[in-house]
Amino acid sequence: SEIIYATQEVAGWLWEKGWAEKNAGNISINVSPSATDKSSPKKYGNPRKLVCRFPALAGQSLLVTAAGSRMRDLSRDPAQYLGIIRLSSRGDAYQVTWSGRDPFLFQPTSELPSHLAIQEFFIIRRNGNKVVLHTHPDELVALTHLPVYKSTRDLNRLMRAIHPEISYHIPRGVGWVPFLKPGSQALGKATVSTLLHHDIVLWERHGCLATGPDIAGTFDLVDVLNKAAKIFFLRCRA
Ligand code: 13P
Ligand code: ZN
Repeated sequence: SEIIYATQEVAGWLWEKGWAEKNAGNISINVSPSATDKSSPKKYGNPRKLVCRFPALAGQSLLVTAAGSRMRDLSRDPAQYLGIIRLSSRGDAYQVTWSGRDPFLFQPTSELPSHLAIQEFFIIRRNGNKVVLHTHPDELVALTHLPVYKSTRDLNRLMRAIHPEISYHIPRGVGWVPFLKPGSQALGKATVSTLLHHDIVLWERHGCLATGPDIAGTFDLVDVLNKAAKIFFLRCRA
């Protein structure tokens, strides 16, 4: 479909940018059919229980990247490394409804707790967002190592000074999320509270996470922000 093609294209960009070493990065997109479409998709295997509930995601379908999948592989053969999961009516379990590989064996990204928390946040806020994109851009990650920029205020001041167009492309600025264990519920929770005020956040010593209504526009947020960080480091060298 169109969404799979767009995801394939962005996976290629992430790899070419050098932001996707090994299996780094993951993507989720809300692909729920419209409210008028009452058909129930085929489900593979027993419901898989979640450690916490996401009531607002009840019945929603999410296209997600597979745990351990490489963006460079996804860019060649997307169906093999993607699956669709459907949340139960209580929002406390999910079933796989599609994967290009064996759907019984499909394992969603290890960052699923963050993706679910953020996708639920989109629905609660009715902000029209559908995409969560996590990646490891070199310059942005390097920036999170510098003690003087470990705050939302100082980060935004720097980014705007370096690249004034940031205010236009990323009007709500960038959020700061202190280091938390990758794949943890805590990381998802901290990210959601930061997304109240921003559309893109940095994960300290890990990477960045961007949100938006479509995947190409979401990629653009990362690209613009990383450009500013790149210019910052070039200027340091000059
Ligand atoms: P996954 O391969 O499980 O998506 O993990 C990649 C990653 O970047 C974890 O933060
Ligand atoms: Zn990561």
